[in-house]
Amino acid sequence: MRNLSFFNYINGEEDDFSEILSGLENQEQKKINSKFFYDEKGSRLFDQITKLSDYYPTKKELEILDREYEQINNYLPANAMVIEFGSGSNQKISKLLKIIEKPEEYISIDISRNFLLKNARELAINFPDIKITAVCADFSDTNNLSKVIKNKKSKVGFFPGSTIGNFCPEEARELLKKFSKILGLNNYLVIGVDLRKDEKILEKAYNDSEGLTAKFNKNILSGINKICGTIFDVNNFDHKAFFNKNESRIEMHLVSKKEQTVEILNKKIKLKQGESIHTENSYKYSVDSFKNLAESACFEIKKVMTDQKAFFGIFFLKVKSP
Ligand code: AVJ
Repeated sequence: MRNLSFFNYINGEEDDFSEILSGLENQEQKKINSKFFYDEKGSRLFDQITKLSDYYPTKKELEILDREYEQINNYLPANAMVIEFGSGSNQKISKLLKIIEKPEEYISIDISRNFLLKNARELAINFPDIKITAVCADFSDTNNLSKVIKNKKSKVGFFPGSTIGNFCPEEARELLKKFSKILGLNNYLVIGVDLRKDEKILEKAYNDSEGLTAKFNKNILSGINKICGTIFDVNNFDHKAFFNKNESRIEMHLVSKKEQTVEILNKKIKLKQGESIHTENSYKYSVDSFKNLAESACFEIKKVMTDQKAFFGIFFLKVKSP
């Protein structure tokens, strides 16, 4: 395919190894960064989650993109370079690339290499007039992205799915600042944000009746086993997800069913019965609290669109001068 190219900027596994080790050695609360969910199997499991009736965010976000087609087309510039931070499946970007007037380039960034390549190939076939670049990278490592994104086109960043919710507010602000630098003055960021709502609805979305979220959560350990040579037994853990009101976030944990020891290199990681490994935060914002966050990170709020129940918001942001 002539309109497709590929760059690889993925971390060395040594970096992943030491990050995972230090999280598991943490005395107060053992943790694993949620980016480790997205190996090939995890990416597929997440894709299945988005189709569950209990998991509303993806459906609501797609609903907004469909309903506000005209308005979005008016807001965003023609002939743009579209940059997606953490691409996942092609569903949303396909919609956006049709909404925007003649996008020239699409930069797809994801850490899950095979998933990324498969999706980029499919997109290159469906959009033969768009120059597509697949970048295998952690989207928060924006340093190496500047090598791929250096031309003078107008740019539209796309950060859907409420992935921003995986970062605590201070980290989220830093990440948005990095995005604003990469995008440059007067360019746009379209960002999907899950909104705060009835706790029962939130908790159901992370404790689905088909048990897919539990599978997704436990699958992180298989990924860790591959990277670290550990022998975590998935069957020794329970899935737990709950809304932490004070922090306004869903927390996911893996709870040890019994006392167990797992070796990582020459270190022993001990888990008591009932002790947990914290695997994910998923922050829920109000429209105003997210506006404040974005404004404190060099963005101007151009427009906020929500679904009818205001379960989910798509924020149209423009980079202002610092
Ligand atoms: C893709 C990070 C937005 O936090 O809702 C889904 C991941 N975790 N079910 C989210 C997820 C459990 C999802 N994000």
